[in-house]
Amino acid sequence: LPYLLAALAGGYLLGSIPFGVILTRMAGLGDVRTIGSGNIGATNVLRTGRKGLAAATLVGDALKGTTAVVLFGHLWGPDTALVAGFGAFLGHLFPVWLKFRGGKGVATYIGILLGLFWPAALIFAGMWIAMAWLTRYSSLSALVASAATPVALVLFDRLQTAELFAVLTVLLFIAHRANIGRLMRGEETRIGGGPAAS
Ligand code: G3P
Repeated sequence: LPYLLAALAGGYLLGSIPFGVILTRMAGLGDVRTIGSGNIGATNVLRTGRKGLAAATLVGDALKGTTAVVLFGHLWGPDTALVAGFGAFLGHLFPVWLKFRGGKGVATYIGILLGLFWPAALIFAGMWIAMAWLTRYSSLSALVASAATPVALVLFDRLQTAELFAVLTVLLFIAHRANIGRLMRGEETRIGGGPAAS
């Protein structure tokens, strides 16, 4: 149990690093939480017009999840890897540094998946890209890809990982509740423009 708690805490600390906030501030663009949707993720960093910064946010927010599961997996085995991944996701969604108001989890979700079972991360990325190409909605693409991920993991017989990702998908949907409302009203912002987000 001490190992699991240490993995949860360590994962949380890694996951709570808000790359979007840090990188936009370092670039002299102010606080990303005051623009667009107000979210701290790569999609909203892209609304500053800085593609490189958005890409760096995506990579940073993903690799902190990968790092958490790989690090704790190497230290104490596969169970602690799962717990560290869960901690990293919670850290991204509820970072103590941002008064527990963090991001929506998409990049960190794929990063954790990459560290635990990379083929499923490829499937997630493929579905996200296909949906984004078809619809130009970042949020919808993430919702569809994350709904499919636990199913894909079951098909690969990765049942423990599937259980974790069923929980992460529920959390991801909850984090996207405002986006889901905007999608249903036809008001969601598309990648590269479209109706303004509130
Ligand atoms: O799923 C993508 C998510 O990050 C949407 O971000 O800024 O459009 O709410 P945003």
